[in-house]
Amino acid sequence: MKNKTWWHDKVAYQIYPRSFMDSNGDGIGDINGIISKLDYLKELGVEIVWLSPVYRSPMDDGGYDISDYYDIDPIFGKKEDMDKLLEEANKRGIKILMDLVINHCSDEHEWFQKALEDPNCEEADYFWFRESENGPPNNWRSMFGGSAWENVGGNRYYMHLFSKKQPDLNWENPVLRQKLYDMINYWLDKGLGGFRIDAITHIKKDPTLRSYPPDADGMAGCFAPTRNFPGIGEYLTDLRKNTFDKYECVTVAEAAGVPFGDLGAYINAEDGYFDTMFDFSYSEPYAYGNGWHDCFRPGEWDFAAWRDTLYMSQTETEKIGFGAVFIENHDYPRSMDKFIPDAYRSERAQRMLGNMYFFMRGIPFIYQGQELGMTNTRMEKIEDFDDISTKNHYRVALRDGLSPEKALEGVMRYSRDNARVPFPWTTGENGGFTTGKPWLKCHPDYKEFAAEKLMKDENSMYHWYKNMIRLRSEYKDILVEGSFAPMDFGNEKSVCYSRTSEKGKIVSINSFTPELTEYACGEGKVLNGDGIHSYENGVLTLEPFGCALILL
Ligand code: NOJ
Ligand code: CA
Repeated sequence: MKNKTWWHDKVAYQIYPRSFMDSNGDGIGDINGIISKLDYLKELGVEIVWLSPVYRSPMDDGGYDISDYYDIDPIFGKKEDMDKLLEEANKRGIKILMDLVINHCSDEHEWFQKALEDPNCEEADYFWFRESENGPPNNWRSMFGGSAWENVGGNRYYMHLFSKKQPDLNWENPVLRQKLYDMINYWLDKGLGGFRIDAITHIKKDPTLRSYPPDADGMAGCFAPTRNFPGIGEYLTDLRKNTFDKYECVTVAEAAGVPFGDLGAYINAEDGYFDTMFDFSYSEPYAYGNGWHDCFRPGEWDFAAWRDTLYMSQTETEKIGFGAVFIENHDYPRSMDKFIPDAYRSERAQRMLGNMYFFMRGIPFIYQGQELGMTNTRMEKIEDFDDISTKNHYRVALRDGLSPEKALEGVMRYSRDNARVPFPWTTGENGGFTTGKPWLKCHPDYKEFAAEKLMKDENSMYHWYKNMIRLRSEYKDILVEGSFAPMDFGNEKSVCYSRTSEKGKIVSINSFTPELTEYACGEGKVLNGDGIHSYENGVLTLEPFGCALILL
């Protein structure tokens, strides 16, 4: 019988390869760099590593634009380096997940190149080409800003939900689907641990390609017509049956926009499309106005609503399967800059965020640098950024009349490059990331976060994370499969929950309050905590933004 749950008790770590470790001094992180740091990951306690894409790519969107699915990009190394990484990781009990980007490829992929040359060739139908006389075929907006259609001369357009160098693949075409399956099986045959699957809820488009009711800019967001659109299940089932089902691998879907009611289809333990998924319902504390990464119109943080969604994500997922929990990745600002109001920034608050999500039910993901307590970076000018989405949003902001200063301020706060700066290994030059010039500027405070330094300090954030990983393993009988229940101690701004199994009960208590707060949780043993003011007669009092993990 296939073991479908081997990954439940493990902790996963996301590497953004360009920024992790450079082995050859060209300023870009690479696979050999990752190999040289596997011991660091093992020491931390990580057993699953998700690599953002390392396939051949022109790097328009950091590798999420793949021009050859079978090859490794020369900036990252060779195919043999990838084989070596799998081997070396295996030796250390670490499973590698690659990123699977199959909603779109690169416009430099040979399929697209052929399609451009000959509109009647087989490959032309692997994409969404349409003829249209008066401008784009419909009013859909790309997630990176601007129209989702690009003209290729005459009346011919193609669809791209992300950048124009990322043409969307046409999943209606069975030949294309088979080609993707062959490629997936090729990688799984190498002994991969599995995949994180990119933008997968977008593979089905509203086949009518009609325009949708427009926003103020005359365009319509592409979520309604292309995200979790009815009929997507047929493709996802076909995908699973032809690939993942044959392997003991884990699949983690980037599944934005899946309503709780559809979780069953996505991740039920029997025949869900995937093993687990990232639920993004609680990942945006602010009510952003107009689509993804709209940094210029942040709304208010409705804490209670956000917390309810978080709790609901947990309870709904538990009914169905096993989730994947996270507070950071390569697409978001750092968690301190996202969840903690400016006035209350502190290392304590960061620890609390860790304690809050790490013991929820599901496999926890740590994003590189999160374990060092990294915060958002600072850039002086728009030219310092690399991220395509940041640049596009900056352009749109200027077009809409914002001053360059305001526009920079807006994108700075939300830019994906905040999480993509080089990993600070040491306090030396460029944080020991490279001996050359880093492809993206190092964080100005990199010395504060240097791994080498924090590893020597028992009270550092690094040890906080290492200890959380240890605790999850030590108390796995409760913390892995134990059930989740929200707890209400009457504190408006707290996240509190219990995890219970026949082996016992553990509660996680986390304060988002700038005052002392009391929690009558009962007597127990403190397993983890920061900012514990007192714990007497079953009443825990936390300092502002404090937290505790208690075995009852
Ligand atoms: C989600 C990825 O995480 C993001 O980095 C990328 O830009 C889009 N999908 C498009 O592939
Ligand atoms: Ca390199």
